[in-house]
Amino acid sequence: MKQEQLKDLLADMTLEEKIDQLLQVCSYYYEKEGVITGPENAAGFTEQEINNAGSVLGGGGAKLLRKIQESYMKKQPHQIPLIFMADIINGYRTIFPIPLAQGCTFNTEIVEKAAAVSAKESAAAGLHLTFSPMVDLVRDARWGRVMESTGEDAYLNSCFAKAIVEGYQGTGPLTEKGKIAACVKHFAGYGAPMAGRDYNTVELSERTLLGDYLPAYQAAVDAGCATVMTSFNTLDRIPSTGNKKLLRDILRNKMGFDGVIISDWAAIEELIHHGIAKNKEEAAALAMEAGVDIDMMTTCYCGNLKKLVEENKINESLVDEAALRVLELKNQLGLFENPFKDGDEAEELEVILCDEHKKLAKEISIESMVLLKNDHILPLKKEGQKLAFVGPHVDNKWISGVWSIFAKVDENVTFKKGIENLGISDVTYAKGCGFVDPNSGLDVYEEMLSPEEEKAIEDQLLEEALKNAKEADVVVMALGELPIHSGEASSRTNLDLPEVQMNLFRKVSEVNSNIVVVLFNGRPLTIKEISDKSRAVLEAWLPGSEGGNAIAEILFGDATPSGKLSMSFPHNVGQVPIYYNEFHTGRPYAGNEGNGKYFSKYLDVPNEPLYPFGYGLSYTNFEISEVILDQRELTKEGSVEASVTVKNTGEYSGKEVIQLYIQDKNASVARPVRELKGFQKIELEPGEEIKVTFVITEEMLKFYDVNMNYTSEPGEFNVFIGSDSGTKNQGGFILV
Ligand code: IFM
Repeated sequence: MKQEQLKDLLADMTLEEKIDQLLQVCSYYYEKEGVITGPENAAGFTEQEINNAGSVLGGGGAKLLRKIQESYMKKQPHQIPLIFMADIINGYRTIFPIPLAQGCTFNTEIVEKAAAVSAKESAAAGLHLTFSPMVDLVRDARWGRVMESTGEDAYLNSCFAKAIVEGYQGTGPLTEKGKIAACVKHFAGYGAPMAGRDYNTVELSERTLLGDYLPAYQAAVDAGCATVMTSFNTLDRIPSTGNKKLLRDILRNKMGFDGVIISDWAAIEELIHHGIAKNKEEAAALAMEAGVDIDMMTTCYCGNLKKLVEENKINESLVDEAALRVLELKNQLGLFENPFKDGDEAEELEVILCDEHKKLAKEISIESMVLLKNDHILPLKKEGQKLAFVGPHVDNKWISGVWSIFAKVDENVTFKKGIENLGISDVTYAKGCGFVDPNSGLDVYEEMLSPEEEKAIEDQLLEEALKNAKEADVVVMALGELPIHSGEASSRTNLDLPEVQMNLFRKVSEVNSNIVVVLFNGRPLTIKEISDKSRAVLEAWLPGSEGGNAIAEILFGDATPSGKLSMSFPHNVGQVPIYYNEFHTGRPYAGNEGNGKYFSKYLDVPNEPLYPFGYGLSYTNFEISEVILDQRELTKEGSVEASVTVKNTGEYSGKEVIQLYIQDKNASVARPVRELKGFQKIELEPGEEIKVTFVITEEMLKFYDVNMNYTSEPGEFNVFIGSDSGTKNQGGFILV
């Protein structure tokens, strides 16, 4: 449809019809009979509101969505189709590692391919839009939703934001087969809740918001992201969903976003709980004025907008503006011509979890795993070593992450299955203990047992594990969190492994000192003791469909690890929020003990994390030469080339991420100690060497200065190039 036709359509619609377009309801209303008045209708929709809503979330499957669309279209006076949205954050049925792990690949190409596969499967299953990517910057591992982000760095997140949006949407029209619309979330600052408690207040200075938190959203917008979701939190004490300055001045005017803005689930009604609206009517008016187009799952818009317009409390043009945007989105997806888009049962069967998709899932899982420690024990030998695999994660299929709502966990390759798939048989397996401490409040998927029954089972599990561990040359322990322990509403104040698993670890380490730990988790954990007492630690995250195969291939040397941490691992929870690009203080501490007490430091742990951002080992060694700069002066129009030569001096072929960090030595405001400004993932055979060059321009040196101008300031800059954020390999130049 042409834009003019859309405008004519809008002009022909009644006010009620336009308001209908602004309501989104959950698919469960259409999936079952008779739920409309049941407890699932806690939001209190009328049957008519549900039947007329302009979009549906959460449903998937070509058959179901076709049925819903067909019955909807029959009742539609203007033949306006529904749009189907869902949370596909790391895959539809082929499940890729969680986004935090995808960040560890430092490989935007492979992540873009994964998003394209998710789009292809989702599109075949009748979906039109995914609520992804989540690009919230995360610095506090207590917040469970760090698993949905690509990490703690604005630049890295921006690169992935672009890659993921382009993976879902492509770079051509959204009508293209196998493409779905993206929704960048949660706008804005949702990744910084106080004390890591989900939905909590966010306090960010304007400079931090603009300089650190907004760039990744901007990258998604620049990549053409079709929609934006508001966040639950307040910013500067104003909830995002009712924040006119944030949505209209910043997102629309400054950042240039002209697509649909959708609220998060019930976020409009939550304006009442935030205490800025007295009732749903006020909440609806505030959200409308702020520029929220779609109300997800409340009756605020559908129950109040008509009255608000009729009583001249809001201008009808606001409703028109929002409804037109929704129509435009439907039109961009080609739904007026084909309301089912790519939904097709036969194709769905063909593409979902096909071999090609599984192959990609394994590749990305391998690239996302981070080898944190290796004291000459990995890779393991396939023969001639007695191996015991111990721990609750050894044969656990819950490795998809929480927002993979269409995943079938029985399709996931467990760690044990991965070992078997490699043909390794003469080994022992023992669960050793449960996932969580009894009475810890961390829900488990297992049935509830009496304390006595639980104790008897635990004793038996432990006994078996210790027997196996004693007899083995090497014990591989699979420990960690379950998916439900990270994600939304899963904040924690303690980042240790559950005591029941630590107990198992300690007991095993008393009988065998050759321990390799494989960690499954959705966030950085505090693993100091594990790291100290084991010979190797592999961070496997929640690795998705092909996780078990990927881990096995790494452990037995069929693949070389190349992941780098997208988020720092703290020594203890008292260090968080912790991130590599912190600011200079007036009392910088550089290990100068004895010089007195009054430095910015802790008495009990170092300032640095246990494992920093960008860190990760390989089985091979990469020698990185000193930094060579082609010139010492950078002009505003010019560029400086900074290069290193990287040589694989080890025995394995492998990939390395060469990272460029820049430090602005003096400026009108305090600047980070260093900032990631570029990275290149290279692959080298043993003995091979390659020159890696980064081109530095003035644009890369810009920041919000003392007057809030986005600019660079002349002066000295340090350049660091190495294999993690702590590299000391340094050069320098002057911006003139
Ligand atoms: O997309 C999600 C969001 O991230 C959290 N609240 C619910 C939305 C829709 O499922």
